[in-house]
Amino acid sequence: MENDIFQKDLKHIGIVLSFTCNLKCKMCKLWMKPPLSLSLDSIKSILKQAKALGADIFTPFGGEPVLRKDIFEIFSYAHQLGYDIEFVTNGTLINEQVAERLFKYISGISISIEGSKEHHDEIRGNGTFDKAISAVKFLTKYKRRDANICLTMVVTKNSYKYMKKLVDLASELKVDKIFYQPFNRAQARKENVHDFLVPAVEIPVLQLEIESTINYAMHKNVQLGSVIEFKLIPLYFKLNGKIKPTKGCFLPYHDMLIIPNGKVFACPFERIEVGDINENNLDYIWNSEKYEKQREKARLKKCRGCLANCSDLDSYKIESA
Ligand SMILES: C[S@@+](CC[C@H](N)C(=O)[O-])C[C@H]1O[C@@H](n2cnc3c(N)ncnc32)[C@H](O)[C@@H]1O
Ligand code: SF4
Ligand code: SF4
Repeated sequence: MENDIFQKDLKHIGIVLSFTCNLKCKMCKLWMKPPLSLSLDSIKSILKQAKALGADIFTPFGGEPVLRKDIFEIFSYAHQLGYDIEFVTNGTLINEQVAERLFKYISGISISIEGSKEHHDEIRGNGTFDKAISAVKFLTKYKRRDANICLTMVVTKNSYKYMKKLVDLASELKVDKIFYQPFNRAQARKENVHDFLVPAVEIPVLQLEIESTINYAMHKNVQLGSVIEFKLIPLYFKLNGKIKPTKGCFLPYHDMLIIPNGKVFACPFERIEVGDINENNLDYIWNSEKYEKQREKARLKKCRGCLANCSDLDSYKIESA
């Protein structure tokens, strides 16, 4: 099994369609980036090339992916190529029509909800909680049986007391799964990371809160997206985000991420450029020495380390097996 997972085999292509966003969430710095976007032609070309390399899952990242006017053209093209499409959204742009159209193409969607309404609006802006909840309701109406609707929340020093609220919402809204991902300082503005990081003295309280939230979710029959990730969050904060699977990470063996200026990364967390779609094709980049170097670093645990639901969580499963 271990040998197989460290075989180069592209499965997942992530494309940051645009950094543009309609919100200015406090824990995020993406909305401050220049409003750079990949052209529709570039996106189609990436999807076609990645498919030829074997990829079968496509994740559009943002900014806010639904802001793109051509989002359905992108989804329709990816769908025709046979991709499973999964993505995270703030939900504010999903009305009934959008929800209905989305499920013609996508197989999974996660809506970001920061626990309680008060906390969500405080972090994401007034009125955004109600819009996100209404998105979940529209999505539920049009969901295909083989598709998933999830809720996802960022665990910070101010939000962890609201973790059970997410369970309540999931139970009320009957979503498929919920995810808790730890605050990542690399995604935030330097000047306010200490408003979000869980301080060392609070880690035992966080640990207890996580344990009781797991029990509460079981009691309410709510499915956690990743219990492994959830349980590792206290250690993640303790190690300042530099947490690594003990047997190495296989993510760069199966994943590729492309950002709006065309730069390519083997890992979304360790943003070391391994190529540029404006200079080379994906086949060349995927088989390049630079990519291989990142794979080796991940396998040998020489990367920076991370923990998020788009990372190599299965490696942690091996660790705890
Ligand atoms: C960057 S957003 C893009 C999608 C969409 N705009 C949204 O907010 O759902 C993807 C996910 O990252 C989360 N996120 C934002 N800032 C973060 C941070 N500093 N640490 C960890 N997750 C963060 C968001 O809450 C969201 O669930
Ligand atoms: S978390 Fe999402 S919605 Fe909020 S600013 Fe960042 S990209 Fe935009
Ligand atoms: S930073 Fe995370 S996803 Fe990237 S190679 Fe290291 S453990 Fe894997």
